[in-house]
Amino acid sequence: MEVIRAISELKASRAGWQRPVGLVPTMGYLHEGHTALVRRARAEAATVVVTIFVNPTQFGPTEDFGRYPRAFERDLALLESEGADVVFAPAPSEMYPEGFSSWVDVEKVTSRFEGVVRPGHFRGVATVCNKLFNIADADRAYFGQKDAQQGAVIRKMVSDLNMNLDIVVVPTVREADGLAMSSRNCYLNPRERSAAVVLFSALNAARELHRGGCRDAIRITGRMREILSREDLAQVDYAALVDPDSFEELQSLERPALAVVAVRIGSTRLIDNMSLQN
Ligand code: PAF
Repeated sequence: MEVIRAISELKASRAGWQRPVGLVPTMGYLHEGHTALVRRARAEAATVVVTIFVNPTQFGPTEDFGRYPRAFERDLALLESEGADVVFAPAPSEMYPEGFSSWVDVEKVTSRFEGVVRPGHFRGVATVCNKLFNIADADRAYFGQKDAQQGAVIRKMVSDLNMNLDIVVVPTVREADGLAMSSRNCYLNPRERSAAVVLFSALNAARELHRGGCRDAIRITGRMREILSREDLAQVDYAALVDPDSFEELQSLERPALAVVAVRIGSTRLIDNMSLQN
């Protein structure tokens, strides 16, 4: 496994890669959710490239960039054991040299939910992903379903800008009690960790109502909010039913929808979602 820090070095290495090239963009501190992405890429691509880069431009000024968990050596060992071919781990100055001034702004889908709570977040995500796609010249890139709105933003960018790669979205990996795997779960103390399962409980309740034939969005979101409100530590940012591509809120559920939640547990913000299929 090659570990590369410089874009020029990566481009030199790229000349010898077999295609298709599968890219797994990450911010490190890898967990089983990331492993699922790498395994899927390994099954489908001749060359698997994993990027580890805590991207400063997608964090707001009051967010956790400084304390975002990092475990580089452990990540490398995991990626080696999963058969990754290349790890690209640039410094911020390599990705954003002095004078950097070009950004990707995906409109509309970014004006809702995470885009409202985290202004500028998706601009940073879209820009860094565009750069990583170009640097790796990837044929496919792999993202987790947990960050569903991020996936929708990236798909829209790739489609609108006629980018030459496929976006593959891989199902969410969950802990035994249903909590979606996330690098930020490590911030939770034991009491908060048990409270965090409330996101999964609320989403499950939405799915159960939907499976039972309910198509009334107000009733389903009401049930999700009721379950979330039973947990004292949970402060709800949103609980809604949305179109999986546009993230427009849905009032009736005659087509596939996504139940989405964002909740603060103590100082940790968690998001999760579940698909509601007709
Ligand atoms: O989902 C993440 O870890 C990040 O948003 C990503 C896609 C690696 C871009 O920095």
